[in-house]
Amino acid sequence: MAFTPRVFSGTQPSGDLHLGNYLGAIKRYVEMQKTHECIYCVVDMHAITVWQEPADLRRATREVAAAYVAAGVDPKKNIVFNQSRVHQHAELAWVFNCVARMGWMSRMTQFKDKAGKNTEHVSLGLFAYPALMAADILLYKATHVPVGEDQKQHLELTRDIAAKFNNDFGPSIREQGLDADYFPITEPVIAGPATRVMSLRDGTKKMSKSDPSEQSRILLMDDADTISKKLKRATTDPEPLPSEEKGLEGRLEADNLVGIYAALADTTKAEVLRQYGGQGWGAFKPALADLAVARLAPIAAETRRLVADPASIDAFMADGAARASETAERTMSEVRRIVGFIR
Ligand code: TYM
Repeated sequence: MAFTPRVFSGTQPSGDLHLGNYLGAIKRYVEMQKTHECIYCVVDMHAITVWQEPADLRRATREVAAAYVAAGVDPKKNIVFNQSRVHQHAELAWVFNCVARMGWMSRMTQFKDKAGKNTEHVSLGLFAYPALMAADILLYKATHVPVGEDQKQHLELTRDIAAKFNNDFGPSIREQGLDADYFPITEPVIAGPATRVMSLRDGTKKMSKSDPSEQSRILLMDDADTISKKLKRATTDPEPLPSEEKGLEGRLEADNLVGIYAALADTTKAEVLRQYGGQGWGAFKPALADLAVARLAPIAAETRRLVADPASIDAFMADGAARASETAERTMSEVRRIVGFIR
């Protein structure tokens, strides 16, 4: 069966949004709404897999929703909501907990990174998290999921869960008169010049909210001066910029800054190098800082304006949740029958 093309993606309201979240995900959400039916979620249930102060969670949930809209997501044309409002996410996640295998989950590198050596003391939710992520996506039978590269393995697991569900429950799916390919095999959309934005201090590490150095990341809510300073102080090598992309090989920090420039300017790394090849960092970094401020400052200002009126954010999230619930319940009522639950 051909599935209606539909986009789903989500961001956790844990910690502050940074440039990686913007370039790897939120900016792509805005682009995809031009061509697709889109559902963008603030995944508050994922956030509580590690401890969140309840008041901080509320604040961050509204801030992420506001940032989506400030960046250009239209909450009327698309669905924007917070995950916990649509209880079917939790319900389908439970079914998927029983489809996914312990071995699959144990191979998730993000769990290993986050848990470190401390696996006895992290929450069970952190381990089961990718099954909830699969539920987020498959509840809406989403066909395309724009994310940064760090989510690739989770999306492969989503595909495995969909295929195993379709296979295990095949006879029951047919008995219910439903299409044998019940869940779609979702396509990850990991594209563009900034699918993995790296730390500004260390080109081998991903830009992340958990890095102890604040200088390693640009926050979406940083003011112009802070953005500028962080970029000008970013670690680089002493060589001038190469004229071709091949010249970025093995130059992790240079590659990262050129990728950031290209993503912010809606162009390619090759194009950036055509313009700046042969020039030194003294010329490139101020240009990058100006571009970053020009792109990010309006988003921060609009996010601030929106969060000053929490009721209006809650209103569009409630509206989004109501619309999401219709599709979610349609899927869940089928899944209950497929699995054999009596209602
Ligand atoms: P999260 O909240 O960690 O990150 C949100 C999005 O930002 C991307 N991202 C990056 N992209 C490029 N460079 C970086 N340094 C960088 N850091 C983060 C992430 O890839 C992500 O797209 N599990 C997800 C949230 C989630 C989800 C979903 C996503 C839950 N359910 C369903 C898609 C579909 C996460 O923790 O993202």
